[in-house]
Amino acid sequence: MTELTLMPWPAEITVNKDQKFRITPDFFIGLKANSIPDVQKAATRFLRRLDGRTGLFFKQGFLSEKDVNPEADFQISYLRKDRIFLGMEEMYQLTVGADKIFLHGPSHIGVLRGLETLLQLLNCDEEGYFFPVVRIKDVPRFRWRGLLIDVVRHWLPVEKIKQNIDGMAAVKMNVLHLHLCDDQGFRVECKKLPLLHEKGSDGQYYSHEQIREIIAYAQERGIRVMPEIDVPGHATAILTAYPELGSAPGPYEIERKAGIMNPTLNPASESTYKFLETLFTEIASLFPDQFFHIGGDENEGKHWDANPDIQTFMREHEIEDNSALQTYFNQRLVEILNKLGKNLIGWDEILQPDLPRNTIIHSWRGKESLVQAAKEEYSCILSHGYYMDLGYPASTHYLNDPHDVEEELTEKEESQILGGEATMWSELVSPRTIDSRIWPRTAAIAERLWSPTSIKKVDDMYRRLKVIDYQLEELGLEHNTAREVIMRNLCRGEDITPLKTLIDVIEPMKGYSRNQDGELYTMYSPLTLVADAARPDAKVAREFRKRVKDYLENPDFEKKETLVKQLVIWLENHNHLVKIIQKSPILKEIKGLSESLSKVAGIGLLSLRGELGTDMNTKNVLKTAREQGGRCELQIVDAIEDLMNR
Ligand code: ACM
Repeated sequence: MTELTLMPWPAEITVNKDQKFRITPDFFIGLKANSIPDVQKAATRFLRRLDGRTGLFFKQGFLSEKDVNPEADFQISYLRKDRIFLGMEEMYQLTVGADKIFLHGPSHIGVLRGLETLLQLLNCDEEGYFFPVVRIKDVPRFRWRGLLIDVVRHWLPVEKIKQNIDGMAAVKMNVLHLHLCDDQGFRVECKKLPLLHEKGSDGQYYSHEQIREIIAYAQERGIRVMPEIDVPGHATAILTAYPELGSAPGPYEIERKAGIMNPTLNPASESTYKFLETLFTEIASLFPDQFFHIGGDENEGKHWDANPDIQTFMREHEIEDNSALQTYFNQRLVEILNKLGKNLIGWDEILQPDLPRNTIIHSWRGKESLVQAAKEEYSCILSHGYYMDLGYPASTHYLNDPHDVEEELTEKEESQILGGEATMWSELVSPRTIDSRIWPRTAAIAERLWSPTSIKKVDDMYRRLKVIDYQLEELGLEHNTAREVIMRNLCRGEDITPLKTLIDVIEPMKGYSRNQDGELYTMYSPLTLVADAARPDAKVAREFRKRVKDYLENPDFEKKETLVKQLVIWLENHNHLVKIIQKSPILKEIKGLSESLSKVAGIGLLSLRGELGTDMNTKNVLKTAREQGGRCELQIVDAIEDLMNR
């Protein structure tokens, strides 16, 4: 059973180890004649992925649309078509027998989920490809399993969004949250307020047609798409277009840096609400989802404090402080959105007294707001602990359970927690690098939000993630391939092997330190550097650390030799890489890092051989090796130190 590489792990599974369903070129699917197109298309995609993986030339080039053929090897059925909404039915049952496979969902969405499971079950032996004989009854733990993509800080072509939707579907995620406007841009066409996209986007925005295309693509895969229009703060792009709505006189210009900015909508002006009603009406008609995210985060209120009209307004309305003013603002938005048949959702700053109960709290600064929201009978979702842009390892996100909170929650309170969202803020990603920040780590979050709480062994997660990692590539995702393109550019066409050897054991600086308090990069800075080819949770480094730990706990000759082999490669790497660095000025910034890798590898080797002299200046070498280079850090220094101190 532990051999299976399912992710997310199903709610219930039994495996019959003695039997296999053999896949032959005759393999064919039976589907009811009246199956909806979404299911037919999903089954066709399934077949194409299956032949892509197996190299089998299936005799059936497309699906039979006749009634479920009792002869069919794989029989798919469902009782009803469901809408794509919060609370859609995702349950399914998958029974793989030695000569028949049955997939059944109460709704068609269960079928979509089950097809992904079956693909993940694919395995092989000397005889060829097979599905293991299993019985699966599966249902998600949380109803809201999302991924936020910030398309503001860096714009993404529709195709890139679609690939990520496919990635989400592969790990059974069900909400794409599009962060559509911020200080750095307004990214959706607005026909009623055209200056928004004309002046606020540098020409980089989605047309209505493109938005519909994205939503249709997502819905076909059982995924909701929720828009976010971030107000009243994060408003520079809006105010670049309509400065008269600002709390300060302006003029405003699209922001080029990252960070918390002051431009804020004026909550004391009726024009603001008129504007927002027009904007929200148009956006709401574009996005069928019931939920409309209004942001609401990081408003420091400096322009509110400085505006005498706003101060007078607050006195007249007996509004005590800026939080209360923002609640007033939010109440007005709730009215607008409720009239449009939408529920307001916002970042946790909006959780203030007098907030209407039908709003949803999106916790990002900590779990306290999640607990408070649940206790005060607000529905809520969690993103704190799921920030992909911080560059933390998958294990950190994996162990962050929305129900794992400081205070005891009643069952009812727990049920207020709808789920969570991984967030991909895009200050430091380009269309080329974004996949490597989202995947494969987000698959671990997908499992946290789908699978039973008891599924939480980190080693086993990584074992499965390794397989899911390359399977995701079949969807066009570039998390493993794009970095080679970057590396070839860095090496100016020379052999990239030595650079790759280094990049495999470094990670971009974590937290937000790569960008030095938002001062190093603008939205135009190149993202073609070593730090962009480097990836969070560097696998080679992680596996080395694990091998060192394992060796130190249970040393043996073979383990030692494996470590020695790796260390020798690193020891010699600088000699090769330095020649490329000499010919490529863009690589100068990592010369020190490269040298450090060789030096610490040398220390590791001597330690393993018991030849590390006391006269060696290891302390300084290790200290230098912990310094950043090219905004990246070596990830094996602690392990080397452990070898040294054994
Ligand atoms: C946020 O990260 N400012 C929601």
